[in-house]
Amino acid sequence: MIKKGDLYYPTKEFRKAAQLNDESVYDKAAENPIKFWEDLAERGIVWRKTWTKAFVHRPPHFQWFVGGKLNITESCFNRHLPALKDKVALIWEPEPLNEKPRRLTYRELFSEVGRFANVLKKLGVKKGDRVGIYLPMIPEVIMAMLACARIGAIHCVVFSAFSPQALKVRLQDTRARILITADGYYRRGQAINLKAAADVALAETQVKKVIVVKRVGNKVAWQKGRDFWWSDLVKKEKSACLPAIMESEDPLFILYTSGSTGKPKGCVHTNGGYAVQSLWTGKWIFDWRKTDIFWCTADVGWVTGHTYGVYSPLLNGVTSLMFEGAPDFPEPDRWCQIIEKYRVTILYTAPTAIRMFAKYGEDFVKKHDLTSLRLLGSVGEPIDETAWLWYSQNVGKSKCPIVDTWWQTETGGILITSLPGLGPFKPGFTGRPFPGIKTDILDDRGKSCPVNEKGNLVIRPPFSPGFFRGIYKNPKKYRETYWSQYGSKIYFTSDGALRDKRGLIRIIGRVDDVIKVAGHRLSTGELENAVNQHPSVAECAVVGIPDKIKGEVPVIFVVLGKPQPEEKIKPEIINQIKKEIGPIALPKEIYLVEDLPKTRSGKIMRRILKRFFTGEELGDFSTLSNPEIVEKIKKIIVR
Ligand code: WT7
Repeated sequence: MIKKGDLYYPTKEFRKAAQLNDESVYDKAAENPIKFWEDLAERGIVWRKTWTKAFVHRPPHFQWFVGGKLNITESCFNRHLPALKDKVALIWEPEPLNEKPRRLTYRELFSEVGRFANVLKKLGVKKGDRVGIYLPMIPEVIMAMLACARIGAIHCVVFSAFSPQALKVRLQDTRARILITADGYYRRGQAINLKAAADVALAETQVKKVIVVKRVGNKVAWQKGRDFWWSDLVKKEKSACLPAIMESEDPLFILYTSGSTGKPKGCVHTNGGYAVQSLWTGKWIFDWRKTDIFWCTADVGWVTGHTYGVYSPLLNGVTSLMFEGAPDFPEPDRWCQIIEKYRVTILYTAPTAIRMFAKYGEDFVKKHDLTSLRLLGSVGEPIDETAWLWYSQNVGKSKCPIVDTWWQTETGGILITSLPGLGPFKPGFTGRPFPGIKTDILDDRGKSCPVNEKGNLVIRPPFSPGFFRGIYKNPKKYRETYWSQYGSKIYFTSDGALRDKRGLIRIIGRVDDVIKVAGHRLSTGELENAVNQHPSVAECAVVGIPDKIKGEVPVIFVVLGKPQPEEKIKPEIINQIKKEIGPIALPKEIYLVEDLPKTRSGKIMRRILKRFFTGEELGDFSTLSNPEIVEKIKKIIVR
């Protein structure tokens, strides 16, 4: 990269070879964003029927490419075949070092998708049916998702580290009748029994059939007539499967995410717009070329895994890598080994991972040849300047551009980042809005904030084709959460942000009760619900506090109904959280307190609790109904 003042730019060579190196794209897209997306939609996507209207807006609802018909798998496979038939689509690296990786060419992956699509059809899955997928990072998760897409079923992937309870709630909400899972997977050298977790969840759901991938060969309980081995079913099927022809606006998938209240929201994504946005954001932001080996480290259970782990690379005919395990297992440099072994050219990961690698130290990095890397990406939480510089110097050897990409489960694809062939890149700033995206930063009264002033990040029409279309079965929540702060025509992101004099955007963080723990989205309300389930808990409050590695971590303040010894109650609360959400939600600390700071109307003042850890002034709490509690809590924390 070339440094100019506080900004970085790609080198001349990088710029020249880039997929997109013409600055004028921004102005052209801004002039007519609908036309801009329409032009892109005409290239690269196989349409069975062209749309009649590109964008229809009935606030707060909108649609893209209305009347168009397609099947996204035709753009992932049929379009590239036969030219790419022997190109590797997916490299899979298992966690155990003594196991062989798998490589699937475009033709092979396509065959497996077809075969599994036929399995689903045989089991009675129809267009529009919801299919639960509770699979770890193994190739079958991609096959399962695309098989659903092939026959027009809606995939609902649930992160494999989520608890049975979390799986249950999602299966109940979607009313899925079929679940695809595995006997287990490896994580830090242990075989995790996933089937056992699935079994617990299934009891109170409508799931009638369970397909189980054999991954680790551990012993699993079996319910005859309900449970089937994946391998037994696919054996009997042919690979040819005609695609279901979908309306552009038919749902492709539902993915749950945390909002400010306890209940997760099912974001509904549709076929046409999502295909267009996935294809083009990936092509331009990751600058894919024929020979690239792309590694997106996100789990497929999150939106990053959906869009840039699965759909976008396939739509672009790219080779991508999937890794089953933990990046620092068995040694801290496992991730470097993987980059070296496969000559990875583009790495897309989260600031938490970068900070963890930085903590392990440069020596681990120096042991490996990382010269294959030419572009780096970051996603999921703000990347601080120190981490950015470490990533740039030690991983990118100061030559790789860094794309810091801002987006959300709701937006379906990246909406803010500087493009690698153009820049500028500025540590701590995610960059410029993607061409055609109209962002703004507003104060509480709805006025645009001046340069360098913090406000709320919003997106104006026409949004983007890959945006979600609603919350599954909950239009009220959709309206309230996203379209009420500034009216029904302005999308409220729930992120605080500011822009510099060049228009580069800095994301400050969530302004709602969502926290990002190691890049994972959790709501404090969801955690509070989990803790409140414990019979001895009278009341609790959860706040996110800064953490050097994970960005943010939850701490919990608990008021007990009747006194209990700490050593007994704390592990029980931990178990409660594991049961309700999963290990990603574990708190850094649990404090037992006699009361929580409250306003006279009884509202818990979480803000005050948070300030104990951020070093901010506690402020004036004389208006609390119980001001004396603040000192008492402080004593417990510093103890
Ligand atoms: C929230 C969305 C983006 C896909 C994975 C996360 C935060 C995301 C960035 C970034 C600063 C970021 C925001 C956003 N976020 N990317 N580059 N810089 N913050 O999707 O789980 O739906 O979370 O992640 O707070 O609202 P998600």
